[in-house]
Amino acid sequence: MTGEDAAFWDEVFAGLEVVEVAAEEHWIGRVLVDAEARVALAGQVLELGCGLGWDTRWLVQAGGQITAVDGSAVALERLAAALPGPDYVHHRLPAPLPFPDAAFDAVVAGLSLHYFPWRDTLAIMQEVHRVLRPGGLLMLAVNASGDAEFGYGRGVEIEPGLFAFDGHLKRFFDEEACRRLLATGWKLLTLMPLNEPRYGRLKRLWAAAAYKSSQ
Ligand SMILES: C[S@@+](CC[C@H](N)C(=O)[O-])C[C@H]1O[C@@H](n2cnc3c(N)ncnc32)[C@H](O)[C@@H]1O
Repeated sequence: MTGEDAAFWDEVFAGLEVVEVAAEEHWIGRVLVDAEARVALAGQVLELGCGLGWDTRWLVQAGGQITAVDGSAVALERLAAALPGPDYVHHRLPAPLPFPDAAFDAVVAGLSLHYFPWRDTLAIMQEVHRVLRPGGLLMLAVNASGDAEFGYGRGVEIEPGLFAFDGHLKRFFDEEACRRLLATGWKLLTLMPLNEPRYGRLKRLWAAAAYKSSQ
């Protein structure tokens, strides 16, 4: 994340009200299909890109010890005031994660992995793999290809699925890109297209759950 991107997110979060989604509509609950995954989410959990806590609130309810990372200081400040409990860490991806190997039972990345060139996205995934314990759980949600209402097709497509507009990058994943992301070092548990209510609209996502396997 550049300083410009950080300023962009700080401005977004300074003006945004927190709107919560009903637990049964939340992507994590809809993707979660096995009991082992629930156990992982009740352990040490790293959240990447917590924003104002859309997913953090769900994760706190699931009983884990949460470390929530974001590149926006404003988001972290507002969320820490509203939701004490998690450890909040200011960190800008794709810089290497400031955590030891195998430190977490689960990593959750809700709408935070789709801002990068593919090379950086893979570097982040390697870091996620490194900080997860063997067999640890990864849950992610990313923009779905074709979601014009949320920006698909705007600006210039600088890589397949990655659009540059208003000085920012935004990737939209199709199923093949999701599978490619999880092809090496992961045992895919679930991959599904979902619609989630956001800001009065339905946002199209791909959501996935996978276990860490050897690379
Ligand atoms: C669409 S929001 C998602 C927030 C929250 N997970 C949710 O679903 O509402 C994307 C989040 O990723 C964070 N983010 C974007 N680029 C980042 C980067 N390079 N490093 C760290 N966080 C970043 C933003 O600050 C923002 O909180």
